[in-house]
Amino acid sequence: MNGKFVTLEGCEGVGKSTQLKYLKEYLEREGVPAVFTREPGGTPLAERIRAVLLDDSLNISPEAEAELFATARRDHIDNFILPALNEGKLVVCDRYLDSSLAYQGFGRGLGLETVLRINAYAVGKCMPDLTVFIDMDPLKSFRKMSGKKIEHDRIETENAEFHAACYRGFKEIEKLYPERFRSVVPEQDKSSTHGKIIEALKKGGVL
Ligand code: TYD
Repeated sequence: MNGKFVTLEGCEGVGKSTQLKYLKEYLEREGVPAVFTREPGGTPLAERIRAVLLDDSLNISPEAEAELFATARRDHIDNFILPALNEGKLVVCDRYLDSSLAYQGFGRGLGLETVLRINAYAVGKCMPDLTVFIDMDPLKSFRKMSGKKIEHDRIETENAEFHAACYRGFKEIEKLYPERFRSVVPEQDKSSTHGKIIEALKKGGVL
């Protein structure tokens, strides 16, 4: 396995999609062989699980939710991430394990240990080389999100307290995995934020 695995994390509405777009353009310009993917999703099975997970007509228990994310992740790892890493590609994933730790562990209150246990079998052989966390106050991003989008999915519609708990979770994860976890505080100017992300990837030995 000679590729590198990078994940991008953050609370809702922090500008992750824009930064992924900038990063994609940058890597294309630089001629870096890279593939972009997302969670939940990235394979036909995981995309179906995604539709279930985000369907706000369903009442899913926190435990079942955590296991569904982990099942989708397992399929994504086996059928997309590992094959791409074996081909020597840089794999960039929009959300991964840390989203489960933050959202299910802290947001839903299952706790870090439980969510780690549920995911251990899947991620044991596939941990990110580097995780960039877009570190933005959840209240700010939550307000921005509520004002902007017309439709919200099952998880986005959770209240501000849920999103604040997720943010606290990410800050705990930062302490747990200092070797791979890089927080980037976003700037008003999106291209400055992009510059910070590239710097983090270079410092982390990924670029
Ligand atoms: P998505 O529309 O992709 O959100 P975003 O654009 O904010 O990345 O929806 C994914 C949602 O699923 C998002 O609210 C975060 C949540 N999520 C979890 O709760 N646990 C997880 O393990 C993952 C990967 C995502």
